[in-house]
Amino acid sequence: MNRLVASERFQTWAARFPLTRRIVRAEGEAMFDLVAGFCHSQILQALVSFDIPATLLEADTTAEVLASRARVPLHRMHVLLRASVAIGLLKQRRSGSYGLTRRGAALAGVPGLSEMIRHHEVLYRDLSDPVAFFRGETETELADFWPYVFGAGAASDPDQARRYSELMADSQKLVAADTLAVINLKDADRLMDVGGGTGAFLAAVAEAHPDIALTLFDLPAVVPEARQRFDALAAAGTGPDRSLEIVAGSFRDQALPQGFDIISLVRVLYDHNDETVGRLLSAVYTALPSGGRIIVSEPMTGGAKPGRAGDAYFALYCMAMRTGRARSAEEIMVLLRSAGFEQVKAHPSSRPFITSVVEAVRLD
Ligand SMILES: C[S@@+](CC[C@H](N)C(=O)[O-])C[C@H]1O[C@@H](n2cnc3c(N)ncnc32)[C@H](O)[C@@H]1O
Repeated sequence: MNRLVASERFQTWAARFPLTRRIVRAEGEAMFDLVAGFCHSQILQALVSFDIPATLLEADTTAEVLASRARVPLHRMHVLLRASVAIGLLKQRRSGSYGLTRRGAALAGVPGLSEMIRHHEVLYRDLSDPVAFFRGETETELADFWPYVFGAGAASDPDQARRYSELMADSQKLVAADTLAVINLKDADRLMDVGGGTGAFLAAVAEAHPDIALTLFDLPAVVPEARQRFDALAAAGTGPDRSLEIVAGSFRDQALPQGFDIISLVRVLYDHNDETVGRLLSAVYTALPSGGRIIVSEPMTGGAKPGRAGDAYFALYCMAMRTGRARSAEEIMVLLRSAGFEQVKAHPSSRPFITSVVEAVRLD
């Protein structure tokens, strides 16, 4: 069948035949979108770099104003704006000014999205020679952007730690919302977030469950940032209060603190290889009491059914990071069982491009 579809004669016939014409057209468009996808990404990158979504969120603006602010020749700005209309991010008003579509407004408003797009210039360079990339012959830059993957020593620069922590914290709001939507924390007393970054997940837990005592565990280079964030939230009266404890340490080099009925790992496992993950999950198992729960939340691959977000984005991203890999819920469940956990279950994800959640219990 595939050989038939690939043949030129069949394609010419199918493009004309009334019953197949529409399918052929839709398939052609989908194929062209794949072919042109890298241009679409760069249109997005340029829009964000010129701050156009944020500008248009304030007010509709003419091409002339946008061109002069971005120091782009007007005729080239017209090309960018028309391209952005074509991919559904902008619309042109009757007056000639440009405004945002609903999707464009989401681009301007989703926390952390613009920063995420900006930092893609690094991944884009890493993927520029895909043959070398897939052969494993590329010295990827992305790993330098996230130095902690090579251990606590590599992440000793607080300035660099701040850069990646901010990016993580901004995008954490949606991850926390989707995680909290599926897990039940009603009976929880004490929760520790391992690799909790600057505490954005714990801030969301505190808001939804003010009675849970919270502990954040992360690398020494990262925790000062977490402390500052929590002090600022507490001063504004919007953050968790005295019940927050911060522990600086590395799960590679030391045992985890004990005394928690829940330990969460949010976007932590995918940075590490199976051996490190195995050791980390065992450390969590040891730290939990009988009946204690582990929550794993991160973007996952589709397993037997590959998905666009997990398999055509996060898997490549993790490969460029060099140390970790995106895993399916099933793979994470296997690792949890090997560490001794039981009652392992995966929650269906409403937005796999944000996160998926697996949880399990230590029973003995
Ligand atoms: C991808 S970030 C996720 C941060 C946060 N959980 C979130 O989702 O926004 C991974 C976090 O794991 C932390 N981490 C990495 N290696 C660690 C280690 N050996 N011990 C403790 N934390 C570690 C990093 O510092 C970083 O904050």
